[in-house]
Amino acid sequence: MTAIEGASAPMIRLDGIGKTYGDFTALHRTDFSVRRGEFLTLLGPSGSGKSTILNLISGATGVTSGRIFIDGRDVTEVPARERGIGMVFQNYALMPHMNVFDNVAYPLKIRRFPKAEIADKVRDVLARVGLTSFEARKPRQLSGGQQQRVGIARCIVYSPKIILMDEPLGALDKNMRDQMQEEIKRLHTELGTTIVYVTHDQEEALNLSDTVCLMESGRVAQIGPPEELYFSPANTFAAQFIGESNLFDVVSVGDGLLRSSDGAIFRPARSASAEKKVLVRPEKLRIISEERLPTGGVNTLSGEVDHVSFVGGMTRVTARRTNGATFVAKSISERAALRVRPGDWLHVAWDEGDVILLNG
Ligand SMILES: Nc1ncnc2c1ncn2[C@@H]1O[C@H](COP(=O)(O)OP(=O)(O)OP(=O)(O)O)[C@@H](O)[C@H]1O
Ligand SMILES: [Mg+2]
Repeated sequence: MTAIEGASAPMIRLDGIGKTYGDFTALHRTDFSVRRGEFLTLLGPSGSGKSTILNLISGATGVTSGRIFIDGRDVTEVPARERGIGMVFQNYALMPHMNVFDNVAYPLKIRRFPKAEIADKVRDVLARVGLTSFEARKPRQLSGGQQQRVGIARCIVYSPKIILMDEPLGALDKNMRDQMQEEIKRLHTELGTTIVYVTHDQEEALNLSDTVCLMESGRVAQIGPPEELYFSPANTFAAQFIGESNLFDVVSVGDGLLRSSDGAIFRPARSASAEKKVLVRPEKLRIISEERLPTGGVNTLSGEVDHVSFVGGMTRVTARRTNGATFVAKSISERAALRVRPGDWLHVAWDEGDVILLNG
């Protein structure tokens, strides 16, 4: 018996799904949906439950609680191979004795497509992933990035309506990762497939996704568009996991001001009373000269420069305040010799709009 939802149903809907192993809870009861054509990334530290969610969606693992709906249909009891889902794995999982053509043709063969149609489809996807002249090679005669592209080709060749990718770029070097990210994005745009992607790399998640689902210890910490996670993190965990952060425990001291336990004063754009923490992103700290420090020291910090590191387009400066606490500022690198050096006294200021308030 399978329940059918309306035509406007999301492509994937998880309704209270949970997974336990003995008395260990790998995934607490979780609800979320993935829209048709959406690119959703599960992001989070090792062991937070990302692969568990993917395996529950694919059917590789059975749920302990809850229901899974795909395209409006309850598939909780439907076997993995009947769910119409494609998988791309981190370790490529290519068949070593088969050449590239046969690897990619395999999913069509087992679905009994006619021979001529198989050849057409395989050549079409190999062209899409830029491997037209590699048809006859065996996997061991390919680079890691090329093998990964064969893995993707083998997945998209039979046009699954959903593709699940578990750390597909984990084994590749930085340049190849960047290049493959662009290819995955392009494929997603061209094919309009719904993709659920797993990574523990925050940059990759922000770059690829329409929606990021941040996981912490088997729970969803926050789900939303990348910019929402960056600019409005739900809590300290989200703030620290995505991007760099300057975080302060604060109490309200009236007049719309907040004071940290170590004496820094913050004025947020909107008045706040319940918030317990303040976040200011490093790129929002402007380095200013001592004369420009406002009286009262609101929305400013001063400290002795610890490290200055030139990281290409950005220069990152860490500084230590008199109480020993450190903060980090990032600014676009200037060609002219850096104005600050270790041991200098550094003053920074930020705008009210850049004071982000957190509840916990
Ligand atoms: N078959 C199993 N038996 C017992 N515990 C398991 C099993 N599979 C996974 N777990 C546990 O469930 C938790 C979540 O695992 P999961 O594989 O989802 O993590 P992950 O977020 O994908 O981590 P990683 O980034 O390391 O791949 C982990 O603590 C893991 O040890
Ligand atoms: Mg995993």
